[in-house]
Amino acid sequence: MEQKKYKRTTVTSALPYANGGIHIGHLAGVYVPADIYVRYLRLKKEEVMFVGGSDEHGVPITIRARKEGVTPQDIVDRYHQLIKDSFEEFGISFDVYSRTTSKTHHEMASAFFRKLYDEGKLTEETTEQYYDEEAHQFLADRYITGECPHCHNTGAYGDQCEKCGRDLSPTELINPKSTISGSVPVMKGTKNWYLPLNEYQEWLKGWILDGHKEWRSNVYGQCKSWLDMDLQPRAMTRDLNWGIPVPVEGAEGKVLYVWFDAPIGYVSNTKELCESNPARWGDWQKWWQDEDTRLVHFIGKDNIVFHCIIFPVMMKAHGSYIMPDNVPANEFLNLENDKISTSRNWAIWLHEYLRDFPGKQDVLRYVLTANAPETKDNNFTWRDFQDRNNNELVAVYGNFVNRALQLTKKYWDGVVPACGELTDVDRHAIEEFKDVKAKVENLLDAFKFRDAQFEAMNLARIGNRYITECEPWKVWKTDPKRVETILYISLQLVANLAIAFEPFLPFSSKKLRELINMADFDWSQLGQTDLLPAGHQLAEPALLFEKIEDETIEAQLKRLDDIRKANGAANYQAAPIKETIAFEDFEKLDIRVGHVKACEKVKKANKLLRFTLDDGSGTDRTIVSGIAKYYEPEELVGKDILFIANLAPRQLMGIESQGMILSAEDCDGSLSVTTLLKGVKPGSQVG
Ligand code: MF3
Ligand code: ZN
Repeated sequence: MEQKKYKRTTVTSALPYANGGIHIGHLAGVYVPADIYVRYLRLKKEEVMFVGGSDEHGVPITIRARKEGVTPQDIVDRYHQLIKDSFEEFGISFDVYSRTTSKTHHEMASAFFRKLYDEGKLTEETTEQYYDEEAHQFLADRYITGECPHCHNTGAYGDQCEKCGRDLSPTELINPKSTISGSVPVMKGTKNWYLPLNEYQEWLKGWILDGHKEWRSNVYGQCKSWLDMDLQPRAMTRDLNWGIPVPVEGAEGKVLYVWFDAPIGYVSNTKELCESNPARWGDWQKWWQDEDTRLVHFIGKDNIVFHCIIFPVMMKAHGSYIMPDNVPANEFLNLENDKISTSRNWAIWLHEYLRDFPGKQDVLRYVLTANAPETKDNNFTWRDFQDRNNNELVAVYGNFVNRALQLTKKYWDGVVPACGELTDVDRHAIEEFKDVKAKVENLLDAFKFRDAQFEAMNLARIGNRYITECEPWKVWKTDPKRVETILYISLQLVANLAIAFEPFLPFSSKKLRELINMADFDWSQLGQTDLLPAGHQLAEPALLFEKIEDETIEAQLKRLDDIRKANGAANYQAAPIKETIAFEDFEKLDIRVGHVKACEKVKKANKLLRFTLDDGSGTDRTIVSGIAKYYEPEELVGKDILFIANLAPRQLMGIESQGMILSAEDCDGSLSVTTLLKGVKPGSQVG
């Protein structure tokens, strides 16, 4: 099918809640791919607007404020600034980054709601909600705690139990309590306005399921499972005092649902930008209401229903808006094999990364794109970060550039030599990279950012192979003319790298362009072999990337380890005491003192240590224990430990383990061997 030709593209990226910083999960899922895409379109000289901003309403912000004893406005002021600054420093190239507390936005969202209301597109419903009679307010689900009906955790919230992870509704809680006053809430009727999603179900099916089969399978699949169920009307207003007041008489104390106002924030921010520079951007309607505009939403997978179903229904009900053409949502990024969690501080925060790795924006951009969770959840580890930096950015990209520049400096005083006659090796190298433009474009057009970046990196791989194969340092002695051609071709590849990486690694591309004195460049030149003419003077060579040392990575790992420990301690609950046993039962256990004569790692088992004990019997005893992650074998040699001597022997990795070493399991799962004995004889009984 022929793709419709568009005049311009509006690119949005999810508006982050202004109640915390930006972490690598946000970056990998939304902002890095969006930024690559936008930079790519700009390079192709397409008309594009990149809209961002902070989402400053919603219940979690009010909870945070209450906890800190400040106002919600204080919270959003603080985080909006932090987020905005860190995005800017990281090179996320928004055309506008505004906020949903702006006047423009309040007016825009209010008017949007009012239009739907006036035209009868919303339905009214009165439901029973929990009400706090002391605080005189209705309670959002999060403001109610009680006992989880499933796992009996007494600190469950009205929307979710964090202990067992189940979604809840506040009426399911046993012994509910208001977190505001501590009083027992009562049920009370309240009126709210609903968007009848059910009335749009058939239209949605046609538009998405028939019309957008090209959407990513994770997005399409999630939409399909929603649309296979019966959609229900959804409340677009809430009883809450933080947000945009519902512009209807008799709606005092109610605000627009945060997911109603936030996506309209994209439009409001567009309007702000257009009004600040009408000559450059024209009117905002052009970007949202013109059939020649293509709308693309970059989001994480938890936002799919809002961007593919609810917001489109809002726009459809309004009547003047275009629909999103694509919604390239990503899956989630894990950190060191654990789900990123802001409440557990299990994250790498952008502002901290920028502080700890100054000037290394592109390293993180590169690693997050190389591991982008495009089709499934993916994992970030600091070791992989180090490896990709050292083995790819430094050893492949940086190395190739440096070789080409150093050789040119050495043999031609840093001036691009003329190209002589081509050999088969030259022709082969040129052949290999001349279709890089088509490849990168096809992949970027299909939102396949990882593969596209891989293709860009391929240019450097081709370059390294080419130089290695040509061995200019050898040829120089016999045929200096030939070296001219080798350098010429290598330098063209270097110039191509600067262009190809521009959307992905903008800081490095800029630096590289300075190194090769390439002031003007154009995406359309990608793949060409005459970017740097003979006689062109290069700048002094310098390194594009630098190695990241083990110490740096270890410091980051230590930080995460400390967080893991702190979380373990914070959630620590001693296990309940087991059933009472008779003294005779205790006497059956034969606990002894053992002296560790030798201790070594068990091959091919990263958890196990093999102990040789003096148990006082005169024959050595072998015990295998799963504590290798917590001790170096040498630490334990010469120590006295406690072990159970009469446990039936077990085979572990082909070794007969004759008993069990006693150790305590800490709340983070780490094990400590009991060793505070004062030189007791091996074989002594414990009891
Ligand atoms: N703040 C939301 C989140 O972080 C995203 C809002 S996207 C918008 O999940 F469309 F509502 F703006
Ligand atoms: Zn529970």
